[in-house]
Amino acid sequence: MVAESLIFSPFPIQGLTLKNRITMAPLYLGYAHNDGGVSPLTLDHYTEMAGSGAALVVVEHTMMHPSGIATPNSLRVDDDRYIPGLSELARVIHDKGAITFLQINHCGRYAFFAPEKWTPSPIRVGETMTKEMTREQIDWAVQSYAAAAKRVREAGFDGVEIHGGMAYLIVQFLSPRTNLRTDLYGGSLKNRMRFPLAVFDAVKATVGDDFPVGYRFSADEEVPDGLHPEETVFLAQELEKRGVAYLSVMAGSYDAYNLMEYREKEKKEAHMAHYAGEIKRAATKTPIITAGRIKTPETAERILREGTADLIGLARVLLADPLWPKKAKGEVSESIIQCDPNCSFCMKRTSSGKPAFCARWEKGRRQAFLEKIGETLEDSV
Ligand SMILES: Cc1cc2nc3c(=O)[nH]c(=O)nc-3n(C[C@H](O)[C@H](O)[C@H](O)COP(=O)(O)O)c2cc1C
Repeated sequence: MVAESLIFSPFPIQGLTLKNRITMAPLYLGYAHNDGGVSPLTLDHYTEMAGSGAALVVVEHTMMHPSGIATPNSLRVDDDRYIPGLSELARVIHDKGAITFLQINHCGRYAFFAPEKWTPSPIRVGETMTKEMTREQIDWAVQSYAAAAKRVREAGFDGVEIHGGMAYLIVQFLSPRTNLRTDLYGGSLKNRMRFPLAVFDAVKATVGDDFPVGYRFSADEEVPDGLHPEETVFLAQELEKRGVAYLSVMAGSYDAYNLMEYREKEKKEAHMAHYAGEIKRAATKTPIITAGRIKTPETAERILREGTADLIGLARVLLADPLWPKKAKGEVSESIIQCDPNCSFCMKRTSSGKPAFCARWEKGRRQAFLEKIGETLEDSV
């Protein structure tokens, strides 16, 4: 891949200039301190990701309210006390020459670490049923997204990303599977879009017009009775009208992993790119990011040339090989180390509450990482 290729051409996002089209897509690895603070492990990891040469690093989902926390080791931004740690995080990323946004999230039914889960409608979680969120809780959640976004700005990030993907609270409101409300927030698509749009409007009004607000966008839940582009394109258009900085298009949900068909689809190269294309055709003025097993620079270049997306998102792909961008540019001559579609080791680690690493890292690197966290290779699986 030559340096003149489209991948290495700059790209503007609302007053910022990305030096190339490579972005790090958010990737939760369980590196935060037990109280949700930025840890040395977090700093080392993002220093490496920013040093990879990716133009934009989107920091993993960061909890915006105590009722929405996924795990003890999830980063948090629900209180001012997290600002100094997050400032340090923004600084190490900037020092490596990358632009950085931080993703804010409320996990809703997947808030496993929250004493009381907030969900749009009652849903079974393990042995218990959750309660329908009250109107006060809805208002409080909207305000909490905005307060979190303000902290992201204060911490020195270049922008904030709202997590509207992966079946978390925002998607739970949008999806007819999980939103059974009969008030203004449920029923018609217009009503189901009310919460996501209220969050976007409140965030935008709080951070100001000069601070970009991106959106992780679920185009399709990949389950038959879930969200599909027939509906989600309308949300994309509403977000475009409101000045969203970009849409980072994804698909899938935790429930989709129960379907063999989805598990096979998810292994394929660029498996979410066609959704990015659909959203791009609906929201023509908005920059579109696509992620999902973009294994080679050739695939990335083709996606950009065909106009399917404007930017490439690499998550596990970059974790498996942080030299991906430099190898793509020809600055490093070895071949790219591929994330193995049949592996899921990083997900197994995060779901068992352990800091994740990549099974493709060479042995010395795995050992050094495990030493840092007080484990050995033998007990690492
Ligand atoms: C372990 C793991 C953690 C993830 N964490 C996040 C996250 O915090 N926020 C988010 O929007 N997506 C998250 N994703 C989805 C990724 O951003 C990305 O869309 C997906 O992994 C496909 O890209 P890849 O094949 O390069 O990994 C996560 C995925 C994995 C496997």
